[in-house]
Amino acid sequence: MAEITLKNLSIEFGSFKAVDDVSLTVKDGEFVVYLGPSGCGKTTTLRCIAGLVKATHGEVLFDGERVNDLTASERNIAMVFQFVSLYPHLTIKENIVFPLKARGIAKSEIARKLDWVTDVFKLGDELRRYPGALPPGARQKVALARAVIRDPAVLLLDEPLSAIDEQFREEMRWELGHLQRQLGVTTIYVTHDQREAMSLADRIVLMNDSRIVQVSQPDRMFFDPVNVFAGQFIGSPSMNLIDLVPVEGGLRLGESEVTLTPERDRLPEWAMASKRPLKLGVRPLNVHLTDDQATGVPLPVDDVFSVGRERFFSFRIGDGIYQGVDKRQSPAGSAGRVHFEPEGLLFFDAATGRRADAEVAA
Ligand SMILES: Nc1ncnc2c1ncn2[C@@H]1O[C@H](COP(=O)(O)OP(=O)(O)OP(=O)(O)O)[C@@H](O)[C@H]1O
Ligand SMILES: [Mg+2]
Repeated sequence: MAEITLKNLSIEFGSFKAVDDVSLTVKDGEFVVYLGPSGCGKTTTLRCIAGLVKATHGEVLFDGERVNDLTASERNIAMVFQFVSLYPHLTIKENIVFPLKARGIAKSEIARKLDWVTDVFKLGDELRRYPGALPPGARQKVALARAVIRDPAVLLLDEPLSAIDEQFREEMRWELGHLQRQLGVTTIYVTHDQREAMSLADRIVLMNDSRIVQVSQPDRMFFDPVNVFAGQFIGSPSMNLIDLVPVEGGLRLGESEVTLTPERDRLPEWAMASKRPLKLGVRPLNVHLTDDQATGVPLPVDDVFSVGRERFFSFRIGDGIYQGVDKRQSPAGSAGRVHFEPEGLLFFDAATGRRADAEVAA
């Protein structure tokens, strides 16, 4: 096991910074998920921790020891990629024990370890078969078994489930999370799938444009995004983002004539005092339909539609279309107003995109 520290890590390819001044500590035994859009630097970071890419600046430390100059094989890491390469002419069993044989480990020890991973990954029948005879999900399981059989200090996983069918992926994800906790191995898992990140991670590292945006536990990432990017990247359907303009008596919604007020919408005092334009972030699950004049904002409602068991609606502010969840027992009848749950309101600085709420800014 190992604690991994990145200290002001930058990785450049020519004049391009793929990773820009990243600092992070992954605790011993922790499951950290790197999340972010395509090209933001996730794989490059992982490859650098593995020793496959050189740091241009900064340091990578394992348990406080600098490993920048160690090769991949000197680092005691195991890595599994999106597309697994198993040796096609070797059986599953031979594939799994290959790293141990290559190191000259004693036969009895190999047999003991094989029993262990066979048990953990429930690999009974597969052992005698060849990789070509297994579905992709099972091959990925074999790759994981091969990765952990030599007790790596660090497990690095780069979108290991993305090549697997949706239905099987769910199950694999659950097994993987369970396995990691059982092994207690420090794990860094890369994905651009937020659902995967939310369900697996002890902590999520959200990256964008080669930098870390936020490091948080999954629920904090959802409820307390540090900026507009984090708010919109996490959560589905996506967080509504609405311009707020300070006017007499409230905050005007975008280009509309409609104003949020401290009385009806429980706007915080500091937001009322703000002289700068803000952006309101509010997730669809915190926006409802109502007839109640005391809590409902008069905004045109376009459309009410069902997705599975949930009923969504869209409403308009100026040219913008936004979404809410209709929680009324019976959808019949007109509900002319939109209620924003005060607890669900997030405020961002319109110029910088950063959270402007008092407690976050503090
Ligand atoms: N060896 C390289 N030479 C030049 N540029 C590279 C190299 N490796 C990566 N890059 C660039 O660095 C940026 C980050 O790439 P990286 O593979 O880390 O992204 P990622 O976050 O893993 O994205 P994805 O979700 O698509 O896998 C990309 O713009 C990529 O083109
Ligand atoms: Mg990648």
